[in-house]
Amino acid sequence: MTLIVTGGAGFIGANFIFYMLSIYPDMRVVCVDCLTYAGNLSTLASVMGKANFRFVKISITDQKSIGKLFEEEKPDIVVNFAAESHVDRSIENPSVFLETNIIGTQVLLDAARQWGVKRYHQVSTDEVYGDLPLDNPNLFFTEETPLHASSPYSASKASADLLCLAYYRTFDLPLTISRCSNNYGPYHFPEKLIPLMIANALNDQPLPVYGQGLNVRDWLYVEDHCAAIDLIIRKGREGEVYNVGGHNEMRNIDIVKLICKELGKPESLITYVSDRKGHDMRYAIDPTKIHEELGWLPKTKFSDGIRLTIKWYLDNRSWWEEIISGEYKNYYERMYGGRQ
Ligand code: NAD
Ligand code: TYD
Repeated sequence: MTLIVTGGAGFIGANFIFYMLSIYPDMRVVCVDCLTYAGNLSTLASVMGKANFRFVKISITDQKSIGKLFEEEKPDIVVNFAAESHVDRSIENPSVFLETNIIGTQVLLDAARQWGVKRYHQVSTDEVYGDLPLDNPNLFFTEETPLHASSPYSASKASADLLCLAYYRTFDLPLTISRCSNNYGPYHFPEKLIPLMIANALNDQPLPVYGQGLNVRDWLYVEDHCAAIDLIIRKGREGEVYNVGGHNEMRNIDIVKLICKELGKPESLITYVSDRKGHDMRYAIDPTKIHEELGWLPKTKFSDGIRLTIKWYLDNRSWWEEIISGEYKNYYERMYGGRQ
């Protein structure tokens, strides 16, 4: 059994590789990643030496190299995590999002078709549904909710989902799609809310909360997402979308205050800055389908997951300190420098 994981040097892809190799120690896993700013080879250090693991530095938009790799590896399963994933960067520069997230997906779908994979899985996001109002907590995203993307990032992910469904209908490509809520856990790049706040708090730097911090996200520990994808590729029905989320809605400001408390840092570090353009108010997943069809339920409570995550950032300072000392500094200055 050969599994190709694209974007495996990023946050969720790397956690998925660790998860799969721990559960299926004999599975051949090939990681495809072009190592953008978000990809980090040191993340994969613990699996690099394994005989059944291979890392290949290729962009998913490079049709020729992807075709050659599929010919060589003859994968049974392809799971596509590779993407530009940060909403703020998509507002700054949309074009690379369209290139990677849409064209890259098309290249992979064509290769999967050509080499007859048994399952192609597209890792998507709940952000394709747009947002929900704060004043109706009984509303949730189901798989039937219309696509209504708000940012160039979510629009590119929604486009990729439509392309996948078109390949299923037109070419019978055996595929599935998962749309997950916000993940957190080890190896999360420190441009995203939780790792950014942990890193800044540890360095006694301001904690930049957008707007009033009232936006709500539905947080899921990354390992629970990995378990859901494993179930979907083994037991999910072809052509189906599965929402993944654990009914764990939290306001941004409450998360930031919790991080301060856990780290023993003063809330006076919190700095309210101008809001993100088009900022989605609330995301909330209805996970009934994946629960009833595949028996999936999240295992990690937020109170445990956030402690595990904070401990990981404390124990692995060199991993994120190296990141924030490089090109990230320019990004941070551009994104937060003049922001009031
Ligand atoms: P990430 O930004 O941490 O990692 C993305 C990885 O993709 C990096 O290793 C990067 O080098 C690689 N990559 C980017 N462009 C590439 C290309 N052209 N060719 C090959 N590799 C390329 O992202 P993440 O948070 O791990 O997200 C992974 C996937 O999960 C994405 O598709 C994202 O849309 C989806 N998702 C993320 C979340 C979340 O909360 N982070 C939630 C739901 C869905
Ligand atoms: P983020 O981690 O970028 O994920 P997404 O936008 O994909 O949900 O942001 C999570 C929430 O935190 C979102 O409402 C924006 C907010 N946020 C801040 O308030 N400050 C920050 O510095 C960042 C990065 C995010």
